[in-house]
Amino acid sequence: MKPMTIPTKPIDGQKPGTSGLRKKTKVFMGEHYLENFIESIWTAIGGVEGKTLVLGGDGRYFNDRAAQVILRMAAASGAKKVIVGQNALLSTPAASNLIRQKKTDGGIIMSASHNPGGPDEDFGVKFNMPNGGPAPEDVTDRMVKATQSIKEYKIVESQDIDLSKRGATKLGNMEIDVVDPVKDYADLMERLFDFKAIKAMIADGFTLRFDAMHAVTGPYAKAILGTRLGAPEGSVVNAEPKPDFGGGHPDPNPIWAKDLMDLMMGDDAPDFGAASDGDGDRNMIVGKGCYVGPSDSLAVLAANAHHAPGYADGLKGVARSMPTSRALDRVARARGLDCYETPTGWKFFGNLLDDGRITLCGEESAGTGSDHVREKDGLWAVLLWLNILAKTGKSVQEVMNDHWAEFGRNFYSRHDYEAVDADTARKMMDDLGARLDKLPGEAIHGRTIASADDFAYDDPVDGSRASGQGLRIMFEDGGRIVYRLSGTGTVGATLRVYLEAFSDEPATFGEDPQDALADMIAIADELAGIEERTGRDAPDVRT
Ligand code: G1P
Ligand code: ZN
Repeated sequence: MKPMTIPTKPIDGQKPGTSGLRKKTKVFMGEHYLENFIESIWTAIGGVEGKTLVLGGDGRYFNDRAAQVILRMAAASGAKKVIVGQNALLSTPAASNLIRQKKTDGGIIMSASHNPGGPDEDFGVKFNMPNGGPAPEDVTDRMVKATQSIKEYKIVESQDIDLSKRGATKLGNMEIDVVDPVKDYADLMERLFDFKAIKAMIADGFTLRFDAMHAVTGPYAKAILGTRLGAPEGSVVNAEPKPDFGGGHPDPNPIWAKDLMDLMMGDDAPDFGAASDGDGDRNMIVGKGCYVGPSDSLAVLAANAHHAPGYADGLKGVARSMPTSRALDRVARARGLDCYETPTGWKFFGNLLDDGRITLCGEESAGTGSDHVREKDGLWAVLLWLNILAKTGKSVQEVMNDHWAEFGRNFYSRHDYEAVDADTARKMMDDLGARLDKLPGEAIHGRTIASADDFAYDDPVDGSRASGQGLRIMFEDGGRIVYRLSGTGTVGATLRVYLEAFSDEPATFGEDPQDALADMIAIADELAGIEERTGRDAPDVRT
C-alpha cells in the first residue's frame, strides 16, 4: 500500500481555540480541510512515524468519515498503531483514560463538545498528549504554524476499515485495534468510587434520572449506572448517540436539559438528576427541586471527596478556572489546601495535575474532574455525587444547605451574549481594558471597586505565561464581575459575563441567583456598555 502525496495549500483560520479546532461541519468537510489540519498535527508532534495513538469521537455527524481519513493518514505517515473506540466512539474522558492506560503517544478526539451536530452544525478535532490532556499552547502554536505553510499531505487509498467490530486489524503496516469504548473507563470508575454503597442506596429505593442528551455518554451511563449499579430501566434516557444529538444542543444546563429540569422541579422528581454533554466531559447535577450550579458543585465535591475510596487520603490541592466562582477557595482555606486560579480551558490544569500539586479541579462551565484522567469528566462528577449521597445519607438539598451554612454562599451566574458582531465585542473589551487602572475606588450602585485587571497566568510548573485571559473587576464586598470573549464559538463573538456576589447571611441562602445578583447585573452592563454597544438588552443564555 503506497502512500499518496497530495499537494495542498494553507487554509485560513485553522487555529485551535479553548478546546481544539472547531468549525462548521461543512467547513471541515471542505476539500483538504480535515487533511491539512491532521497533517499539521503530525508536524506539531514531530511526526507520527512509529507512534501509537488513540482515536475516537462523540458520534456526531462526519465522525465516522473523519475517522477513516485520519486512519488512512496515520497509516500513510508510518504510525505503528491506532487504538480506536468501536464505531469510532470514545467519550473525551474515556479517550484520556485510554491514552494513559495504554501509554500511547497521544490521541485524536473528534468532537465539538456541547455544540450541536449535523451537516449544518459544528465539528471539531483536538489532539491530546501522552499524559491524556489537551495539547498545550506551544503544541497548538506549532499546529497553527504548520497549517500556514503546508504544501502536501500523505494518505493511503483503501476500503473503509470496519470499525463496528472489535478486534485487531491492519491498514498497510499499521495495526488497528478496535476496542470496547466503555470497559476500561467503567473499571476505572469502579476503582475510584464505592460502588457497593451506591448500589445499596439504589436497591434501597433511591431514584435517579441521567439524561445522555443523545450523545456519547449513553452507552457509558447504561453500563455503569444500569448494569453495574443496578439503576432500573428508564433511569438513563436519550441513551443512543445520534449524529445530530436529536436536533438539540447536547449541553447540560437548565436551558438545553429542560426536560430533566422540569422533571426535577416537579412533584414526581426522582432523588437525583444529572446530564452530560456531547463528548461526556461536562455534567449537570440536580436534586429534587434543587439545581446545583457548577461552581457550587465543584466546592461541594472538594469538601466531600474523602467519602470516595479514591480520595480517602485527602486532596493534594485544588484549582479552578479564573471565572469560576470562589466558593472553592473558601473550602480550600478551611481545609488548608492550596488553591490555584488558572485561565479558562482544561489544558491549564494539566501541569498542576502532572506535578502532583492538585487532585481536583473544575470550571464554571459544568466541568469538574480530578487526577484520574487529564480531561474534565461528566460521569465521574455524577458518581462522586452519588458516592457522597450514599455515604452521608443526605439529599442534594441537604448537602447544599449544610455547605452554605459552613462556608457561606457565593451567588453566581454566567450571562452569554451570542453571535455578537466580532469587532463590536473586541472594541468593547479593549475600551474597558483601557479603563481598568482608573476603576479602583470608584463606587457604582453603592458598591466600591477594590481592584481591576486583565488576568494573566504564570504557570508555576513550566513558567509559561498566558495573558489577556479576561477582565476582572473585584468589589470590596467580595463581589466580582469578569468579562471574557469565548474561544469556542463558531459565529461572530460570544461575550461571557461572569457575575458573583458573596453572602454569609443564612436568610439569603435560598434566593434565586438572578435576584441575588440583580445589582451586579446592572453594574456589569453599565461598566462595559453592553446594551448601548451591542443593542442587546438581555443575554441569550444565563447559566
Ligand atoms: C468554554 C468554557 C470553558 C471550557 C471550554 C471547553 O470555553 O467557557 O470553561 O473549558 O468551553 O469545554 P469558551 O467558549 O468560554 O472559551
Ligand atoms: Zn464537552
